[in-house]
Amino acid sequence: MSDRRSAQWYGGDDRNSYIHRAWMRRGLPADAFDGERAHIAIANTASDLTPCNAHLNEVARSVADGIHRAGGIALNLPVVSLGETQVKPTAMLWRNMAAMAIEEMLRANPIDGVVLLGGCDKTIPALLMAAASVDLPAVVVPGGPMLTGTFRGVPLGCGTDVWKLSEEVRAGTLSAAEFQRSESSMIRSRGHCNTMGTASTMGLLAEVLGMTLPGIAGTPAPDSRLLEAAHATGVLAVDLVDQERRPSAVMTRASFHNAIVALAALGGSTNAVVHLLAIAGRLGVELTQDDFDRIGAGVPLLVDLQPAGRFLMDDLYRAGGLHAVLAEVQDLLDPSAITVIGEPLVSALGTAQVYDREVIRARQDPLQMEAGIAVLYGNLAPDGALVKPAAATPALLQHRGPAVVFDSVEDLHARLDDPELPVTADSVLVLRGCGPKGYPGMPEVSNMPLPAKLLAEGVRDMVRICDGRMSGTAYGTVVLHVAPEAAAGGPLAKVRTGDMIVLDLENRRLDVDVPAEEWAAREPSAEAAKAYAAPTRGWEKLYVDTVNQANTGADLDFLLGSSGDQVARESH
Ligand code: FES
Repeated sequence: MSDRRSAQWYGGDDRNSYIHRAWMRRGLPADAFDGERAHIAIANTASDLTPCNAHLNEVARSVADGIHRAGGIALNLPVVSLGETQVKPTAMLWRNMAAMAIEEMLRANPIDGVVLLGGCDKTIPALLMAAASVDLPAVVVPGGPMLTGTFRGVPLGCGTDVWKLSEEVRAGTLSAAEFQRSESSMIRSRGHCNTMGTASTMGLLAEVLGMTLPGIAGTPAPDSRLLEAAHATGVLAVDLVDQERRPSAVMTRASFHNAIVALAALGGSTNAVVHLLAIAGRLGVELTQDDFDRIGAGVPLLVDLQPAGRFLMDDLYRAGGLHAVLAEVQDLLDPSAITVIGEPLVSALGTAQVYDREVIRARQDPLQMEAGIAVLYGNLAPDGALVKPAAATPALLQHRGPAVVFDSVEDLHARLDDPELPVTADSVLVLRGCGPKGYPGMPEVSNMPLPAKLLAEGVRDMVRICDGRMSGTAYGTVVLHVAPEAAAGGPLAKVRTGDMIVLDLENRRLDVDVPAEEWAAREPSAEAAKAYAAPTRGWEKLYVDTVNQANTGADLDFLLGSSGDQVARESH
């Protein structure tokens, strides 16, 4: 019998093999079962309710053509899909569910390898977490960003400009009708958000991790070169199976090192921290939140993309793309990391060129000298909190101000614009109850809107602190992913309006300036606890009962580590 995994289903002459073969004969030729041809699943997150991924069925056809051309059998496998803008209360609540479901389906089915099609924020992380756990030969096709739309003659960055335009409406400088008119301009084409948000970041990092055909990441979704690369990925998938090159051989500690360097140089999303930690956790790769600060802190910001800068993903691709950026920081990359083609990542960078120095800056002329994500510790964040200096107001990164505390997002919305709210530009907005357990799902609410009365005064940024996440398309002096979260007994639950908060980026500190004895004796807010989630059934209950904190990737505690591709028992 062939030693292909699929042959364990199809290769025998017993009743079970008969059943496995017979039901698959609809459309598959007899030689599909001779053990010679690799059976490749196309794990496809296409869905009408995930508009950023809706074009992936077309991409899947190109992948399938490539698989067939290389002699493999292509099998479409629709998997759980998450539309970031559509699902409530937050797509992050189901990242782990998607990863778990995909993992189980990859293991349960008669396949030898898998091509992973994702795009919208959580889809590539979930696919990579699943592939890491099952460890079948796997390769990603990132769905690609949408083209740049314009409004009033200027480009609109999806996500980022929603926040900006909605603040303009609140400040009275943009009419509601004009705001609405911008909607159809923002989403110009198929593809995911075109800022350096989470989808763009994770698509690019999938390549830096070695998990894509080199050169594919960042190709705009409508660009015909995406389909060409999808076809080539199908061919590659068959070779991957033949070579038995598995995610654990590709995504090594060296790959994660490179991903952290790239994350900083690109000015990527803070969400990448929880996603990379979660993927590493599935592989058993030692990676901590501190690695992001340690490896990324000295990396310069080279890419002038929104939300930190001006341009959009289409511009990055035109300017030379990911390889041109990586070539600028090649000396910081670990040359031992390989990609799915079996060669070092750095060997693909020799021909990279920058065609627009406005978009991709030279190493000696960066947008910022130190661009990484900083990890803060202190009596407000014993297990750490993140801040992205590239998206913040530099003057606010050393700041001392009185807290204005909100117990929930609903509390924030109810009181933020109250003229009596005791808030000034120096205040620190604190929002709790938004961590993995508290909300549940750790929503992207940390970039709280500013109080209307301050907006009217021209204030455009304040220090904000939250145990939730922030959209990768958002910006501002936002301290987020505070761990442990308030609902898990974190000290954020004890802060009161009026307490002095000290943010000290230089020393990587986040503290509340309350006498130690008083702080130790203070009880968590009972009022805040009323807002924490207390689900009694279904996924939400499993999630709240078992989710880890943000500083280790917010995966479920029982999903850490590899599970492998073996299934011990038969189905009949
Ligand atoms: Fe899908 Fe932004 S909503 S990537």
